[in-house]
Amino acid sequence: MCFDKLISKFFWISAATLFGACNGNNSAQSQMTGTDLSLKDAYESFFPIGVSVSGSELVQEGALIKTQFNSITPVNAMKMVNIHPEEHIYNWKEADSIVAFAKRNEMKIRGHTLLWHRQLPDWLFRNPDGTRAPRQLVMQRLKDHITTVVSRYKKQVYAWDVVNEAISDNPNEFYRSDPLFQVCGEEYLDSAFAWAHTADPEAVLFYNDYNEYKPLKRARIIRLITTLRNRGIPVHAAGLQAHWSIYEPSALDLEQTLEDFRSAGIPIQITELDVSIFPKDPRSAAAVQADTSRAFTAEKQKLQSAQYEQVFRLLRKYRQNITGVTFWNITDRRTWLDNFPVHGRKDYPLLFDSNMKPKPAFRKVCRFDD
Ligand code: G3I
Repeated sequence: MCFDKLISKFFWISAATLFGACNGNNSAQSQMTGTDLSLKDAYESFFPIGVSVSGSELVQEGALIKTQFNSITPVNAMKMVNIHPEEHIYNWKEADSIVAFAKRNEMKIRGHTLLWHRQLPDWLFRNPDGTRAPRQLVMQRLKDHITTVVSRYKKQVYAWDVVNEAISDNPNEFYRSDPLFQVCGEEYLDSAFAWAHTADPEAVLFYNDYNEYKPLKRARIIRLITTLRNRGIPVHAAGLQAHWSIYEPSALDLEQTLEDFRSAGIPIQITELDVSIFPKDPRSAAAVQADTSRAFTAEKQKLQSAQYEQVFRLLRKYRQNITGVTFWNITDRRTWLDNFPVHGRKDYPLLFDSNMKPKPAFRKVCRFDD
């Protein structure tokens, strides 16, 4: 080895030792989380890795969140019913605490979600006397809501899910027939994106939905975004929720999905990733067989690792068109899937187990050669 190389090797070893010795926190954290690997480091040159959180989880699971993720999304705190429970009352407490946590820890913040057919407050559609509010008033209220929330977090929340799940799963209707659509018509989508853009012209604005791996839903989402853009509406990207399972999507379906968004010129983020151990499509043979047991068996653990490995291999492949990947919930200790679609059926869809330790799937995601 030549002298120069020897010197640089010596310097590298000393710096690493020094850093390790000084960085007591890291080793305490790796003891707590059971790994030295980190998702955010493994994907540093690909895309930010995010997680959805509630305010209380920042205390209990703060160490894990900080070491593994570099982006954060409030799981419920920014939904209209929570952040804007009465017409003239905003409840900023939980959302502010999540934003403050993210800033302290230099994490990106995704806002979720400005308009969704669920978690809307009753007052939105009512006059003070309880009668039905006219369209014009509802639109004015939506404008006030979006303008106030986006303005408060201007330059802090870098991306917003502006409209969530507006498209129907019913082949016979395009838009979901929800109260927003029934009262305001499809123009509320144009307006929502325009209001958000006016409030924070730098924010990246998303249309967010699920089941993109199904061809009809995917085609509709691409059509909607393209149509809005052709009208000059600022829809910058699509959010693919990615509530998937160990059985679906297949590699073929997922690649086709990623390819279709890429070729339509629509950048994407994976916004709500989890891989349920139960099938999404109850009509498949695998589904029927798998549903006979609720246990997280060694076989399912294997399938989950393979599915996560495959998913991330494809996400890496399409990284040019993917600007972020966010997991929905932190560990298997608490996931919305424990109560959906079957109330009280425990699920295990994440990369960390109920003791916050990394699962075999975690290593498959973190360690790769490509
Ligand atoms: O606020 C009450 C709380 O006081 C009470 O202790 C608790 C007991 O069950 O219920 C609490 O509210 C629940 C809330 O989650 C917090 O746990 C709501 O009833 C429940 O409806 C709510 O579910 C959330 C759901 O959206 C509806 O808002 C899930 O946590 C959240 O993961 C889920 O996330 C959605 C995305 O926003 C959009 N895409 C689909 C995804 C899954 O449904």
